[in-house]
Amino acid sequence: MQQRTHTCGELTQENIDEVVSLCGWVHTRRDHGGLIFIDLWDKHGLTQVVLNPQIDQLAHQEAHSLRGNFVISVRGKVRTRPKDMVNPKLKTGTIEVFIEEFEILNPSSTPPFTGWEDQEVGEATRLKHRYLDLRSDVLQKNLELRYQITRITRNVLDKAKFIEIETPILTKSTPEGARDYLVPSRLNPQKFYALPQSPQLFKQILMVSGMDRYFQIVKCFRDEDLRLDRQPEFTQIDMEMSFVDEKQIFSLVENLITEIYKGALEIKVEAPFEILKYKDAINRFGSDKPDLRFGLELVDVSEVVRGAEFKVFAQALDAGGQVKAINIKASADSLSRKALDDLTEIAKTYGAKGMAWIKIQPNELQSPIIKFFEKGMLDHLIKSVKGEPGDTIVFSADSPKIVADSLANVRLGAAKLLNLIDEKLIKLVWITEFPLVEYDEDQKRNTAMHHPFTAPLEEDLDKFESNPSAMRARAYDLVLNGNEIGGGSIRIHQKDIQQKMFELLGIKKDEAELKFGFLLDALQYGAPPHGGIAFGLDRITMLLANAPSIREVIAFPKTQKATCMMTQAPSEIDQKQLKELALKYDLS
Ligand code: AMO
Ligand code: AMP
Repeated sequence: MQQRTHTCGELTQENIDEVVSLCGWVHTRRDHGGLIFIDLWDKHGLTQVVLNPQIDQLAHQEAHSLRGNFVISVRGKVRTRPKDMVNPKLKTGTIEVFIEEFEILNPSSTPPFTGWEDQEVGEATRLKHRYLDLRSDVLQKNLELRYQITRITRNVLDKAKFIEIETPILTKSTPEGARDYLVPSRLNPQKFYALPQSPQLFKQILMVSGMDRYFQIVKCFRDEDLRLDRQPEFTQIDMEMSFVDEKQIFSLVENLITEIYKGALEIKVEAPFEILKYKDAINRFGSDKPDLRFGLELVDVSEVVRGAEFKVFAQALDAGGQVKAINIKASADSLSRKALDDLTEIAKTYGAKGMAWIKIQPNELQSPIIKFFEKGMLDHLIKSVKGEPGDTIVFSADSPKIVADSLANVRLGAAKLLNLIDEKLIKLVWITEFPLVEYDEDQKRNTAMHHPFTAPLEEDLDKFESNPSAMRARAYDLVLNGNEIGGGSIRIHQKDIQQKMFELLGIKKDEAELKFGFLLDALQYGAPPHGGIAFGLDRITMLLANAPSIREVIAFPKTQKATCMMTQAPSEIDQKQLKELALKYDLS
């Protein structure tokens, strides 16, 4: 094999008359009379190479056996392409290499698809033959972008005096709220490791050890229902710092994110980012991950419509619920009956029983519900949402949670329907002051909204007994265009407060000892005040790449059913392995 002198994406007019060697894959082959044209591919690009029978009869004959996907090396002279064969789309589009010698390094069977073509190939086939799929421009670009993001992250954090420290994968359960993946221990029959849902406890312990600033680009494992932005194993950019408060963490992260945008996409992002308290995010957008690229804010009209005859509203208010509205500006003409039905379906998906609406036409109100309202109240209602001719007002009446969920999604649905989202905008917002706990109706106990190691706001510390549901956490999420890309908190560093927190969560002393004893132990030996954050690397890459799914930015992703189509994992194991692990399972 000839040593490569250039890649397939490199040669230009500068190289005319040079003798070069290239290696790559046969992308396409065209026979033109006597000449054979081959587009030679590698990850850097395509180069047209030409075989002329007059130069080498034997080579030419052999070239007839070349098929797509063959791996070859060629040697020849660079020359200018005839004018009518110039391809302005390619960097190498003005040259071609006239072959003097070539070698087949490896033939190839006919592949099910090449990965290079635009043809529609089902995702199952793509994932089964991921090695072919990964040759596509899009996936090559996505993985390059992913690498750039990690490279920039390492540089920025290195400059900020962080060091990367690995933490165990075979470990104990960490409470991030999902199910664990378990690994049986052969040496300790009937005992199991859990794969980490995050390195949370280890990174806090590293702070007790005086490591000061830790980061890790690390795999996390969560057995949960999968969606387009979730994988069972995913990667976090995980960080922890000692002697910091929210302000310092925010500014460090803002620097990291702006450097990532600048370095990977040459986009300038404005910092500092907006900060929105959880309460305000829910009130104004119905969501703790609001997309701020457009308006359509929620307005509470409960007090305006109280006393109206409309049963739907009255029942919700009587039950202690609320009525909220969104004024979809200038949409009366563009929102068809079908569009309103679609939005109503969205509202219903999120628990609402319906979605009342009023269209403000130039001379009248059009709506199935106005007959239930007196004129004075209607005027007041329209005024309270700043309604003008041409607007459509939509309503949700229910418990605060259902109203928020349904209108948050109607808001997104309407923005998409009406093309209100400027795809070029980048809206980053910190969400702060989350509730410390939320009540879980199924488990009949409080659960930590972030995780049990998150510190309460100082001013709420006296509410552990009196009013825990009103306690706010020193937790924060970073939201990018409506997607949660990271979350973290200032931690509890005092053992007694940590114990109070466990009590609040209904975790008994012996259970806490069993699960987190090592952390509680560590906390009593000089734990510094500390805090941190973790980012979803896959999600950030997906958003920066504008990819439709997280699977498009992971080399070997899992399907919705958490399987790997290429390796066929998970797979059965044989009896011998089961026996060694002291495991039995019953399929009945
Ligand atoms: P959290 O659970 O919020 O915090 O996770 C941090 C970020 O990880 C990403 N993420 C996921 N990405 C893909 N697939 C998943 N299944 C998945 N789950 C989470 C999200 C999320 O914002 N230990 C804490 C962090 C801390 O407190 O420092 C933690 O793991 O982008
Ligand atoms: P109905 O009286 O059930 O025919 O409903 C009249 C209108 O109110 C319809 O447009 C429904 O979609 C809407 N509606 C029903 N339930 C609710 C609700 N909980 N919140 C808002 N609108 C609703």
